[in-house]
Amino acid sequence: MTVSYVAGPASTLFGRHFLEVTDFTPAELRRLLDLARYLKVQARSEQRTLLRDRTLAMLFEKPSLRTRVSFEVAMTQLGGDVFFAQGSEFMIGARETPEDAARVLSRYVDAIVVRTHAHEPLQRFAQSASVPVINALSARAHPCQALGDMLTIQERFGGIAGLRIAYVGDARNNVAASLAEAAVMLGATVQFGCPPTHRPSESYLAKLDALGSQSGGSARAFSNAVRAVREADVVYTDVWTSMGEERYRERNDAMLRPYAVTEELFSYAQPAAVFMHCLPAHRGEETVAGVIDGPRSAVFDEAENRMHAQKALLAALLTELKGIPV
Ligand code: CP
Repeated sequence: MTVSYVAGPASTLFGRHFLEVTDFTPAELRRLLDLARYLKVQARSEQRTLLRDRTLAMLFEKPSLRTRVSFEVAMTQLGGDVFFAQGSEFMIGARETPEDAARVLSRYVDAIVVRTHAHEPLQRFAQSASVPVINALSARAHPCQALGDMLTIQERFGGIAGLRIAYVGDARNNVAASLAEAAVMLGATVQFGCPPTHRPSESYLAKLDALGSQSGGSARAFSNAVRAVREADVVYTDVWTSMGEERYRERNDAMLRPYAVTEELFSYAQPAAVFMHCLPAHRGEETVAGVIDGPRSAVFDEAENRMHAQKALLAALLTELKGIPV
């Protein structure tokens, strides 16, 4: 795939928040992915001053390996500094209103990355922040994961439009939502495979169809896992029980067992299909070693691409991209 990035007018993303994939237009998503591909191969020595003297606050109410480290490395490689706080040091709305916390932090730092529980307090926080706020996972969305996922799919297939992406398992979780929104906006067909208990609502499926209307993307849901996966280009799954939802683990294990991505289920996909998973994964539950550790697994490219996609996101939100050579 040719890697080029043509700097147009100043980034339309400069100064904006990124709480959900739908905060950006399809054209902005495409441009961001182009920038990610450009930065991925650009000499690191040429990136060292892009965010010099900028500070990123990372405030995490939940554990993280990939998101935390990939943001810290991205910011460091762009020449900026990172401040990280976790747990009792920062809980949106715990010690003060989300609005007050956002106003204070905006006086100290140039952007804020938040991993939190409920989405609504994050929205309140962002509304009062005068610097970009990035959602590093909330109950509703995981948009940074979707950026890395789209970058990975684009690398593997040369594009996203026209592909068939099967998401099997809990189709109502945050990863599924952000993946599906990005995929339909970029012209893919999303096929959820899930039991009725974990199926997106009809209104959400209609919303996905509307999001894909310009680019040819659409979404549908099947209760039969094989129907969802048949002839798919990408088969995606995630843990059956998201962080904070542990009280539902037993029920989820029982309901989602038929949707495990085993070698047999994966065999219904295209011969060149790739397997994706946001990680962390549970081998023997939502998938098996023969798939996730097999030759068609893209999970470690996907994890690496979190960093490249977030580097592009930070550059686009924090600069007018004037330092990017054409
Ligand atoms: N995929 C993902 O967000 O990983 P972490 O929870 O480790 O950040």
